[in-house]
Amino acid sequence: MPAREILPHIYQVGSIDWDIRMFDELIPLPDGTSYNSYLIRGSKKTALIDTVDIRKTGELLANLEKAAITTLDYIIANHAEQDHAGTIPELLQLYPEAKIVTNTKCQALLMNFMSLQESKFKVVGNGDTLSLGDKVLEFIITPWVHWPETMFTYLRKDKILFPCDFLGSHFATSDLFVRDKAAIYLAAKRYYAQIMMPFRPTLKKHLNLIEDLEIDIIAPSHGPVYDDPAFITDLYKDWSSETVKNEVVLPYISMHGSTAVMVDYFTGALMERGIAVKPFNLTKTDTGELAMALVDAATVVIATPAVLTGAHPAVVSAAYLTNALRPKTKFISIISSYGWGCRLEEQLKGMLGNLKTEFLDPVTVKGFPKKETFVSLDQLADKILLKHKNIIK
Ligand code: FEO
Repeated sequence: MPAREILPHIYQVGSIDWDIRMFDELIPLPDGTSYNSYLIRGSKKTALIDTVDIRKTGELLANLEKAAITTLDYIIANHAEQDHAGTIPELLQLYPEAKIVTNTKCQALLMNFMSLQESKFKVVGNGDTLSLGDKVLEFIITPWVHWPETMFTYLRKDKILFPCDFLGSHFATSDLFVRDKAAIYLAAKRYYAQIMMPFRPTLKKHLNLIEDLEIDIIAPSHGPVYDDPAFITDLYKDWSSETVKNEVVLPYISMHGSTAVMVDYFTGALMERGIAVKPFNLTKTDTGELAMALVDAATVVIATPAVLTGAHPAVVSAAYLTNALRPKTKFISIISSYGWGCRLEEQLKGMLGNLKTEFLDPVTVKGFPKKETFVSLDQLADKILLKHKNIIK
């Protein structure tokens, strides 16, 4: 990727990863991603804000060479994770004069991950500034987006915020700035769901901090740059709020058809009551799609057959993910079927302890669903409708 100018003397010199489809062997990336690295040329000093994934080192170094960067004074490390800090050792070989500018926690992590001497660091605290001559960087310590050492860098005068992972999107595009807002909405929501959602209380605090800054541009470390900052900050305010939608997320597995019959019936029952429903057959579901659906649904209903009296392993995995992502879901229930033994309700309830939710009476059937099973499913749909009406305006 060629270096691209954001404003005079400020460039995106990172890398677009068009082909990647899985991040950390955990997060599906249907749209690829980018590792954004920002070069700031002040009148006296030059700084690079974050680097790129180690696999993309060559692209970053080539961009710096093309930009005729013979001296690099500072490498700002907003975050220690490999996809942003991975190239620091190679940069230090090429630019031995450079200092790594970061906070104490990030320094400790970087020294654990890489063979870096303490003398190579310039440690900064919240509100500290760094002059590049005619440009001044300010550092804002913002832990837990999504690691404990994360921080933002703010470029005064040009009014650019560099929040690293925060507010980003896994989206490979040749657009420097966000131009396809519909596509970035989806990519940013998926990114929020999988990476940021577990830290909702912290995100709210950081959003409040941002409100106190004058910001014309937000330049995250993944995805295109925002020249309309309110586009993404308004979305984050909504997603991280307590407001939920009249929606039911319905992850399920069926082995012999009983659970599928109940899921089909229950889906229809919810639709008849005007409740949006998103069934996810877990044998086919991209976990990112499931995570996105969890962002604002009021209710989650998990449907599973019993396997050795417990939930199906794919359902256990989905429940684990749901618990780990800590969505703002208000109600949970379970639909299940079994042949000869069933203790999966206790198992699943025990797995969802992170969620501040009310459990609604589950619906369980031995063998194939019967007339009374469908009555129970209608009753569950009625209860969900009532609960939603009480909390959704
Ligand atoms: Fe994009 Fe937390 O790394």
